[in-house]
Amino acid sequence: MHYLYSFPIIFSFAGVAVSASNSTVDLSWHAPSYSKLNDLNLVINGTDVFGFVFNSSKTPAGLPYSTYNWCNMPHVRSSEYSKVNSSYKLEYVHVIHRHHKRTPYASNTFPRESYAWDCSDEGLYYHAAPFTGANAYSSAATYWSVFTSPSNPLAPQGFNGTCQFPQLTSGGLDDSRQHGKDVFGVYHSLLGFLPGHYDSKKMQFRVTNNVITSQVASNLIPGMFPSLDGKSVPLLIQPSSVDSLEPGYTCSSASSLFSSYGAGSTNANWTAHLTASSGLVRTLDAISGISSSATDWHKSWDHYFDNLSARLCHAKSLPCNSTTGTCVTQTQANEVFRLGEYEYNYLYRSAGPQTLEYARRSYGIWVAELADHLRAAQNCSSSVIYRHDVAHDGSISRLLALLQIQEMVWPGMGSEVIFELYSKHNEWFVRVLWGGQVLKSSSPALGHEVDMVPLNSILAYFDGLVGRGAALIPGLCNQS
Ligand SMILES: *[C@@H]1O[C@H](CO)[C@@H](O)[C@H](O)[C@H]1NC(C)=O
Ligand SMILES: *[C@@H]1O[C@H](CO)[C@@H](O)[C@H](O)[C@H]1NC(C)=O
Ligand SMILES: *[C@@H]1O[C@H](CO)[C@@H](O)[C@H](O)[C@H]1NC(C)=O
Ligand SMILES: *[C@@H]1O[C@H](CO)[C@@H](O)[C@H](O)[C@H]1NC(C)=O
Ligand SMILES: *[C@@H]1O[C@H](CO)[C@@H](O)[C@H](O)[C@H]1NC(C)=O
Ligand SMILES: *[C@@H]1O[C@H](CO)[C@@H](O)[C@H](O)[C@H]1NC(C)=O
Ligand SMILES: *[C@@H]1O[C@H](CO)[C@@H](O)[C@H](O)[C@H]1NC(C)=O
Ligand SMILES: *[C@@H]1O[C@H](CO)[C@@H](O)[C@H](O)[C@H]1NC(C)=O
Ligand SMILES: *[C@@H]1O[C@H](CO)[C@@H](O)[C@H](O)[C@H]1NC(C)=O
Repeated sequence: MHYLYSFPIIFSFAGVAVSASNSTVDLSWHAPSYSKLNDLNLVINGTDVFGFVFNSSKTPAGLPYSTYNWCNMPHVRSSEYSKVNSSYKLEYVHVIHRHHKRTPYASNTFPRESYAWDCSDEGLYYHAAPFTGANAYSSAATYWSVFTSPSNPLAPQGFNGTCQFPQLTSGGLDDSRQHGKDVFGVYHSLLGFLPGHYDSKKMQFRVTNNVITSQVASNLIPGMFPSLDGKSVPLLIQPSSVDSLEPGYTCSSASSLFSSYGAGSTNANWTAHLTASSGLVRTLDAISGISSSATDWHKSWDHYFDNLSARLCHAKSLPCNSTTGTCVTQTQANEVFRLGEYEYNYLYRSAGPQTLEYARRSYGIWVAELADHLRAAQNCSSSVIYRHDVAHDGSISRLLALLQIQEMVWPGMGSEVIFELYSKHNEWFVRVLWGGQVLKSSSPALGHEVDMVPLNSILAYFDGLVGRGAALIPGLCNQS
């Protein structure tokens, strides 16, 4: 069902500069710079995918490390890391990134796949151990072994084989471990900020209620601290109904706002690209067997994008229809990828002020938590100097929308944002890294290059948008 939303109160904040923490801060949405990703003619009539990589976790040697690689996005690494002037002292680091590459979600698989997908090269461990009593801390390291039975006449949705859909693949686990090594290479080896050994008083790792983020963490952490292989490490997790990281909390006004301009809406600014690509949809439906009335597959390019990119990241072939012998071509896959990038660019930045409004409502609680962590680091009320959150594309997209990134892309596997807090004498500054490089924002409140922005300015921006302790969010979410 589609309906148009009216915004009597929604925009009461947008375009308004409010006074917070003694400074006047610009909380309004600022248009992103021109981007090829938002140029419908290039999206429909282009050929490659803006120079982005979609077919391997390894970016080809001829391309810079900073190249967009959907299978394994660039992240902080000592060989590319830009150190700040040594007169600043690093005080606190907060990392958030998307999980690494995985099998597709079952909902993104075709009704019948022409080949199976095998994951017997790894184990998904699920076990629980009591912390007290005679068996304290002991349990078997049990893992899941997916099977189908000849006596079960039902074929699974999508792929046959031994994987969960989704699960991190062994390649995705390798990428997770390397990500941990690279982060440690910067914050321990290069900067001497993190201690050489895990210390639960100084660092915290956090995951969402989707198990794939725990699969990442269990490889990322020993990538940082190899002595933790086979050891117990706590992962912080909030109850799913209020989880700010995923995000899992309900914000009905944010959902209504999104459906007024985004996937599922009849807003012409959204439907233009669907109309322009309707021929491609018909061709792909005929190969996949997806029904023309399958709304989920046709309200956006999300499902075809995940379906095709997950195969290519794992060096699997593009799908064919076993009846007609027709296969999806690389040219068609490239158009799907351009369309997906166009959608994220539109949904999280170029659609207009709604994108900022949507982001602060649906991600404001995580942002308020971050603001409090920065304050606690400044006033020395916490021993934690390092937090590391493993999340999803929906988490990173909302955060980038709130930071008003200049060029919005679909955050690929492992996409990373880092907040670094520095002090110099009694002054405090924040630097934000996206893909290991200083994030460029369209918001003057964040200094355009979010590079050593005074902490008070960034806190005023966060507090102004979401309220201290996310005080504004419950009220905003309940607006009808
Ligand atoms: C606001 O300004 C007053 C007076 O200059 C100062 O005492 C106070 O600490 C400032 N508050 C903040 C949050 O900066
Ligand atoms: C793509 O190119 C064709 C032929 O030049 C043109 O008619 C069409 O308008 C272009 N599509 C878009 C979305 O610009
Ligand atoms: C990935 O795609 C590029 C561009 O189409 C191609 O040159 C390259 O050989 C491919 N790499 C792999 C590993 O398939
Ligand atoms: C740091 O900045 C100060 C003041 O701008 C300058 O004098 C100093 O040379 C810089 N130090 C380094 C290591 O670049
Ligand atoms: C792609 O979609 C098809 C059709 O639903 C499904 O069978 C297949 O499992 C999907 N594959 C991936 C990689 O999502
Ligand atoms: C998948 O398994 C079902 C039975 O579970 C079988 O009918 C089907 O042919 C298999 N498909 C492939 C591609 O192996
Ligand atoms: C479509 O986009 C234009 C330009 O950004 C904007 O002025 C217009 O209000 C949008 N239309 C709708 C229905 O959102
Ligand atoms: C193959 O193509 C035919 C004709 O478009 C379609 O009916 C069927 O669902 C497609 N899928 C499979 C798995 O055969
Ligand atoms: C320090 O910051 C934390 C987090 O915002 C806050 O709860 C606490 O009250 C602050 N303590 C002092 C002494 O300002």
